Amino acid sequence: MCIYILLIYLHQKLLFTVASLLFEEKIMKAIRITKNGDASVLELQDLPQPKPGPGEALVRLKAAGLNFIDIYIRSGRYARPLPHTPGLEGAGIVEAIGDGVTEVVVGDRVAYAGTMGSYAEFNLIKAANLIPLPNEITFEQGAAFPLQGMTAHYLLHEYYPIKKGDHVLVHAAAGGVGLLLVQWLKYWGATIIGTVSTETKANIAREAGATHLIRYTEQDFVEQTKALTDGKGADYIIDGVGKSTFDHDLEAVRYRGTICLFGSSSGPANPLAPNSLQTKSITLCGGSLFNYLNTREELLKRANDVLQGLREGWLKLKIDHVFPLEHAIQAQQLLEGRQSTGKVILKIGD
Ligand SMILES: NC(=O)c1ccc[n+]([C@@H]2O[C@H](COP(=O)([O-])OP(=O)(O)OC[C@H]3O[C@@H](n4cnc5c(N)ncnc54)[C@H](OP(=O)(O)O)[C@@H]3O)[C@@H](O)[C@H]2O)c1
Repeated sequence: MCIYILLIYLHQKLLFTVASLLFEEKIMKAIRITKNGDASVLELQDLPQPKPGPGEALVRLKAAGLNFIDIYIRSGRYARPLPHTPGLEGAGIVEAIGDGVTEVVVGDRVAYAGTMGSYAEFNLIKAANLIPLPNEITFEQGAAFPLQGMTAHYLLHEYYPIKKGDHVLVHAAAGGVGLLLVQWLKYWGATIIGTVSTETKANIAREAGATHLIRYTEQDFVEQTKALTDGKGADYIIDGVGKSTFDHDLEAVRYRGTICLFGSSSGPANPLAPNSLQTKSITLCGGSLFNYLNTREELLKRANDVLQGLREGWLKLKIDHVFPLEHAIQAQQLLEGRQSTGKVILKIGD
């Protein structure tokens, strides 16, 4: 039986190689998902290298960024057609362009967020979605800033007008988005209340500028937030955790305060009766980055604001975990298992 399976495998491999030679098809390494499940469904495979169509650029990837949405997609919580190559963020060099491309030329250093397929050596991206990567930004940084950086940008600019001294509660403050929010809020002079699960994470968030840290797995963050705000509650709560936090946000926010729910790393938040918001006149917002990148101008404005923060030094990317592409399973397990801080990156190629 084993020999039979081995023969079929070798036969397929041979056919694939012959076809590649005959049609001069170039091959690339890519992580593929053929079924939803835990991280073990991530498989390294050989695939034909894609060719750019009109308006597209082929990017030779040097690094891919991991994001919590990769976990939702892999597990099947967010549906995507199968099979697919995961990853929504990357950085690299333009290898080839299709007809009509004006935004980039071959050889440009670029980054992007929002197109699936970045756990691979090459990815096809709509040229209008590429962000020029300045020379002083490494490819790893280029794969670390777009999705989480532009998310922090819209969360801080679109829902609540943050003023110096405002109390802003940031959940999972030592995570990828969390650390960027903390640094930006510090730059603006807000008082930042961060929640984290461990003392190590508390130290990291404190170093990034969080004013107060609450170990929300052990301490009651509603009680603590009230104590830190003279009983009033937070002005603005930014919640990417969901199930374990959202119900309590409604208590921890001040009268006429704002909550933005933009993720669900602990699971989807419980349903809410809309009229219950009336009691404290709460503004509740639902965030999704891809509704805030409607035009190329909007994309470049958000990306360039993040890049400017990095250039000026008040914003830093904390890239604590870099794995080779073939270790995508371990990389996702780290993120999903609540073990990561800051950004998790896959390094691709030399
Ligand atoms: N809507 C958007 O536009 C958008 C864009 C980007 C990201 N997001 C969301 O933002 C959130 C953060 O994303 P990220 O990529 O920066 O991830 P991350 O914050 O680096 O990692 C998730 C963190 O969530 C916390 N967490 C709480 N309960 C958890 C649980 N049961 N299992 C796993 N983690 C748990 C953990 O921090 P502690 O150990 O400190 O609790 C963990 O490190 C995610 O929900 C993501 O989907 C949304």
